[in-house]
Amino acid sequence: MKIKLSASIMCANFSHLARDIRILEEEGVDYLHFDIMDGHFVSNFTMGPGILASLRKITNLPFDTHLMIEKPDRYISAFIEAGSTFISIHVEACPHLDRTIQLIKKKGAKVRVALNPATPLCRLDYILEEISSVLVMTVNPGFASQRLVPSTISKIEKLKKIIEKRALNIDIAVDGNVSFINAPLMVKAGASVLVCGSSSIFHPELGIKEGMAKLRESLNL
Ligand code: DX5
Ligand code: ZN
Repeated sequence: MKIKLSASIMCANFSHLARDIRILEEEGVDYLHFDIMDGHFVSNFTMGPGILASLRKITNLPFDTHLMIEKPDRYISAFIEAGSTFISIHVEACPHLDRTIQLIKKKGAKVRVALNPATPLCRLDYILEEISSVLVMTVNPGFASQRLVPSTISKIEKLKKIIEKRALNIDIAVDGNVSFINAPLMVKAGASVLVCGSSSIFHPELGIKEGMAKLRESLNL
C-alpha cells in the first residue's frame, strides 16, 4: 500500500499558513490534516470550519479533518461544506457511531474512525466494513510534541492482522509523534497514512523542506 503523508496544520506557522501550504504542495505532501479541538473532548482549542473554507480557496490538496470534539454530529456538515475530504471521528465521542458514519458518507466525505491509545480494537468490530480507514492515535490526543505511547505499535500490528483476515481495503492512519525514528516502525507495523507534525514535517529545528526530506529518507521513499 502506498505511504501517504498528511501534514498536521496545527503545527504549521499560523501567521504564514498560505506560504507553508505552498511549500507542502511543492514537497508533494498527500493531505492536509486539520486537528479540530473544542476544549471539551480534549483540553485544547485549534480552529473552526472557517479556517478550512479559507484555505480551500488556495489549495487542491485533500483535507484530512480530525474531529477531537464532543458530539461531532453537530459539526460534520459544516466541516464537509468547508471542504473536508476525510472526516475522522473518535469512537469515544460517538455513542451512535454507526449513525455518525452514515451521516458522513451521506454528506459525501470518507470516514476515518479514530481510537485513543487505551481504546481497544474491538470497538471497530461492527463498523470496519463501513469505513475507509482507522486513525490509530499514537499519542493521547490534544497537543503536539508529545511522546509515542509504546503499546500503540503492537496495536497497529494487531489491527493490520484483523484487516487482512477480513480482506478489507482499509488504510491504517497514525497520528502523534510520527518522528524520523517512529515512522519506519509504524509503517513496518502496518500504517499507510502518517499524520506528521512537530516530530517530522514541522520539526522545530528544520524547515518544512528539510523535515519532509528527512522523513522520506527515514522511510526510504
Ligand atoms: C495530537 C495531534 C498531534 C499533531 C502533531 O492530538 O494530532 O499528533 O498531529 O504531531 P506531533 O506529535 O508530531 O507534534
Ligand atoms: Zn490529528
